[in-house]
Amino acid sequence: MYQPGVYGSNGYDHQQQQSGGGQLAGHRMRRGSRGRPRIHNRDGSGNTSGRNRVSNYYGAQQQEKEEERSPPPPPPCTDFDMAYFHSYAHVGIHEEMIKDRARTETYRNAILQHQSQIAGKVVVDVGCGTGILSIFCAQAGAKRVYAVDASDIAIQANEVVKANNLSDTVIVLHGRIEDVEIDEEVDVIISEWMGYMLLYESMLGSVIRARDRWLKPGGLILPSNATLYMAPVTHPDRYSQSIDFWRNVYGIDMSAMLPLAKQCAFEEPSVETIAGENILTWPHVVKHVDCYTVSVHELECITTRFKFESMMRAPFHGFAFWFDVEFNGPELFPSNSETSSSFNASSNGHVADSSQRKKRPNPNEALVLSTAPEDPPTHWQQTLIYFYDPIDVVQDQLIEGSITLSQSKENARFMNIHLEYASGGRSFVKESVMR
Ligand SMILES: C[S@@+](CC[C@H](N)C(=O)[O-])C[C@H]1O[C@@H](n2cnc3c(N)ncnc32)[C@H](O)[C@@H]1O
Repeated sequence: MYQPGVYGSNGYDHQQQQSGGGQLAGHRMRRGSRGRPRIHNRDGSGNTSGRNRVSNYYGAQQQEKEEERSPPPPPPCTDFDMAYFHSYAHVGIHEEMIKDRARTETYRNAILQHQSQIAGKVVVDVGCGTGILSIFCAQAGAKRVYAVDASDIAIQANEVVKANNLSDTVIVLHGRIEDVEIDEEVDVIISEWMGYMLLYESMLGSVIRARDRWLKPGGLILPSNATLYMAPVTHPDRYSQSIDFWRNVYGIDMSAMLPLAKQCAFEEPSVETIAGENILTWPHVVKHVDCYTVSVHELECITTRFKFESMMRAPFHGFAFWFDVEFNGPELFPSNSETSSSFNASSNGHVADSSQRKKRPNPNEALVLSTAPEDPPTHWQQTLIYFYDPIDVVQDQLIEGSITLSQSKENARFMNIHLEYASGGRSFVKESVMR
């Protein structure tokens, strides 16, 4: 969970036709001044050259297999990446994640549920942080766990592993997953890679690279799949606290502040908690990701068209986004990368659109970590994209449009959001950047 910035301004909203932004583009990434992350290989050599070095033990056959996979060269580690890893060296971010019981306990339950596939097996923990998931895997009987993190938090992870007498099982590698060497294939990949709006942070690409480098055929990936949802929301209280407030301040008409207030409050996506009652319709699946098959390229730009029917008369203030992840084996019958929503599942089983269902091996046994508004809150909360002005909708009114999420060219960990929406004969475009 890397926290998105609150500064920066290059969004615009045709609804308001705001001019100028005037804010300095910036972000909350703490700039790292260190060099390339140190890499402590198992032999302690720190040797980072020659990816996929294959030990003699596996011999020529293994070498051939590795060459068949021929993964593309790792992307360069940019200053943005360094700043990103630096942000994870702070204890607070790990404390928040670990204290998120819905998150941490679901991961632990998933490990226990898959214990038969973990015990006696080799695991890679992509982005181990403090080492908590690696230790859960060791406790579940893993033969060996490679706990990899490019942030300096790996130093603490190593101490935690030692203090728990697990150094024989958990090998902490301090380096980027893209750069470290693991001289064997692995049975399991585990990672907590999800950012706000699922894809912010772009960490899934690193899990994909680990999968393509080391996962044995038939190996296990936890979580196995993820789904990003969106739905129209009404949120009069939020709007009035941030905007209407300026209409009368101690008896003074401060309406002149309204354009600035709207811009500052709603220009960028906002991470906050909303309730199920704020949602106007059944959700739409923006993207379903099967972690066994998804490619890095597929995540660079995602577009989907949506069509909602408002279930009530209300001011429509914007769209909410949330996600869930499941802990399964591979999907047996992936159907066009789409799934039913946990929102729907816990709302009388209604599914917005049958084309958005996914066939999974055993839905009753699927362990799900959900960040939906009606589920127990998590540190991810929900992500809101507000309009500068609400649109009044009546029951059954259509809301249609499209959304495109793309990795920013400036920094692939940032997310550009292009939203087009139309309702009641008016159409709008909103551009924002999650940075
Ligand atoms: C969301 S935290 C999860 C930490 C820990 N697994 C947990 O569940 O508490 C993600 C971690 O992945 C690390 N990370 C992200 N991308 C990485 C990469 N490409 N290589 C190594 N570590 C990475 C970050 O430094 C961060 O510590």
